[in-house]
Amino acid sequence: MDNNNHEAMKWQKRFERERAARKEAEKLLEEKSAEIYQLNLELEKKIISEIEKNNEKQKIIFQQSKMAAMGEMISNIAHQWRQPLHAILLTNQKIHLNRILGHEIDDELIDSVENDIKKQINYLNSTIEDFRNFFKPDKEKVEFQLKESIETSLDIIHATLKQKQIDVIKDFDSNIKIFNLKNELMQVIINILKNAMDVLNERLITDKIIIIKTYEKDNFYFIDVIDNAGGISENILPKIFEPYFTTKHQSKGTGLGLYMSHEIIVKHMNGFFEVKNINFKLENNNYKGACFSIFFKK
Ligand SMILES: Nc1ncnc2c1ncn2[C@@H]1O[C@H](COP(=O)(O)OP(=O)(O)OP(=O)(O)O)[C@@H](O)[C@H]1O
Ligand SMILES: [Mg+2]
Repeated sequence: MDNNNHEAMKWQKRFERERAARKEAEKLLEEKSAEIYQLNLELEKKIISEIEKNNEKQKIIFQQSKMAAMGEMISNIAHQWRQPLHAILLTNQKIHLNRILGHEIDDELIDSVENDIKKQINYLNSTIEDFRNFFKPDKEKVEFQLKESIETSLDIIHATLKQKQIDVIKDFDSNIKIFNLKNELMQVIINILKNAMDVLNERLITDKIIIIKTYEKDNFYFIDVIDNAGGISENILPKIFEPYFTTKHQSKGTGLGLYMSHEIIVKHMNGFFEVKNINFKLENNNYKGACFSIFFKK
């Protein structure tokens, strides 16, 4: 009996010891779980705050690059408006001259003056409309002809291209239409053209050429923008899409143009954006330059 009792006590003690140990382990587990939970919460908060910080940074970059583009646009508007304003002034002078010379101001003269002024005003209107549309961010994708969006981009910077005596060679496939963000694509094309103009000028190239092509290849629609400024040196080539990378003086470049362009094409438009140096031949002359390619899956 004693023996049995002793045995029972032993089991009881062992049982209690085990229960206590289990309780201890459970408590520890609970504490650790709470700790992990807390850590997770903190980590989550940290991630959210980092994402917010990153979004904020992104917004600032977009804003900065928009401001730079805006400055550029304003100087282009000034260029583009000079000529029609001058034409209006001349037309005005035509009437004035006729009056002081005592010539008859007949209906024919008035009609022609009216026509001239109307034409110039329409032109002024259409340029300002181009600029206005350009700054409206696209909310919706639309169907548009690649050729047309490139022509409008060229119109926007037409005055600068002319002033810098750059020969623009166009080779468009008029059949290509895409369903995408039209204004944003124009912004990218202008960025690439502006870089080409800058480098053609910087390197004092005498016969300045920019070629723009659109074509289909291997299930993709391509836009190539090629210049004859000599190309991008291999050691900076991998860096040109990074934000703030620039070889220009602080007053001339922010280093955001290509970064923004890459973001727009790849992230907003689901396309591809690449660059390489190429050699090409034109009317028996050999040239070297950068070739920027934008392409979209058909
Ligand atoms: N067509 C080109 N030929 C040679 N180098 C180029 C060409 N396009 C761009 N680069 C180089 O890539 C760099 C980055 O271009 P990006 O457009 O991002 O900035 P940026 O033109 O310097 O300044 P921003 O565009 O912000 O005014 C330029 O500073 C230039 O060195
Ligand atoms: Mg640039």
